[in-house]
Amino acid sequence: MVKNIAPHGGKLINRIVSMEEREILLDKAMHYDMKKIQLSSREMSDLDMIAVGAMSPLQGFMGKADYDNVVDNMRLSNGLPWSIPITLSATKDEVEGLKPGKDIALVDQANEVIAVLHLEEIFHHDKPKESLEVYGVDDRKHPGVDCVYKMGDYLLGGKVSVVTRAKPGDFSAYRLDPAETRALFVKRGWKRVVGFQTRNPVHRAHEYIQKCALEVVDAILLHPLVGETKSDDVPADVRIKSYEVLLEKYYPKDRAMLAVFPAAMRYAGPREAIFHALVRKNYGCTHFIVGRDHAGVGNYYGTFDAHYIFDEFDIHEIGITPLFFDHTFYCKSCNGMASYKTCPHDSANHVILSGTEVRRMLSSGEAPPPTFTRAEVAKVLSEYYQKLK
Ligand code: ADX
Repeated sequence: MVKNIAPHGGKLINRIVSMEEREILLDKAMHYDMKKIQLSSREMSDLDMIAVGAMSPLQGFMGKADYDNVVDNMRLSNGLPWSIPITLSATKDEVEGLKPGKDIALVDQANEVIAVLHLEEIFHHDKPKESLEVYGVDDRKHPGVDCVYKMGDYLLGGKVSVVTRAKPGDFSAYRLDPAETRALFVKRGWKRVVGFQTRNPVHRAHEYIQKCALEVVDAILLHPLVGETKSDDVPADVRIKSYEVLLEKYYPKDRAMLAVFPAAMRYAGPREAIFHALVRKNYGCTHFIVGRDHAGVGNYYGTFDAHYIFDEFDIHEIGITPLFFDHTFYCKSCNGMASYKTCPHDSANHVILSGTEVRRMLSSGEAPPPTFTRAEVAKVLSEYYQKLK
């Protein structure tokens, strides 16, 4: 009998309330003048992930002890590894009159109550410190750091009770909660499942490392991130379409699953690689792919910093097994995909295109070579870039 890997902390959290509790909380929120806080798009993603246990063992937004420990030591206050602060911010005006011990209504962009925060703590948001420790740089040109600075000056900690899940919207066919992916892995008899994080359009190097990993496990969970990304990243719907056309033709249907990862992108490089791995463990993955400059942006991180950071932990406390990949590419002399680890030929043989070059080609109607992107994927991307003109 196939058994899932244990979630982080041992238990899959569920913070969605029962129907009865929902009525009571909504009634309290409407009639007892509960204070309201409107969530940002990232906070909405985080809330939903907390609700369904993707963030297990978190049961709410971090209080000061967890926050400080995560920022300083990459651990929760109980010692469990955790590398990214999961926070709810508020401005000076919003915290006016808030009292720990009281409930706060969390509302979406349409002002609908979606959850209640059982407020435990209000504390100051040390933005320069968080930026330096988590992102390695206090520079607003870094998109993750810029997000930190756009947040309120205070953080609100406490457990959450979710009354209404965010509307499924796009990709509803691919929205699978951790309990669902776990059940499907068992049903399909998959003991060893590798998770693949991605925020970019799929290219041959991605496909190569996915398939190398698939050679040594039972199945792959392709888990493109669909939460907030920076504005020049390719939108999630185009990326999902690229996966659909690729899966149709090039992946074994009984060993590959496509589902969306609702998180927002932080661009925190190595720290985010740890977070991405822990969260995929909660979805039931036993292995996780970490390639070159995982979750990086610009030149802020070393190509393999996201590999080295795993050495700072005992692999048993991380639980999920990282599979590290060197920089991969098509080599004309090898006549196939390879990496700096496996290829003896010099760089003149390697097909490596920068993102800028690929965008230029697609915008001008020129298809990137099939050694870089499958023709089916190039077509989807090219349609998107042509529309932008
Ligand atoms: S990420 O921000 O989600 O990491 P991207 O979608 O580009 O960006 O990468 C997804 C995964 O593939 C990451 O683990 C990344 O390190 C890896 N990767 C991307 N391109 C390559 C490549 N050419 N060689 C090796 N690994 C790669």
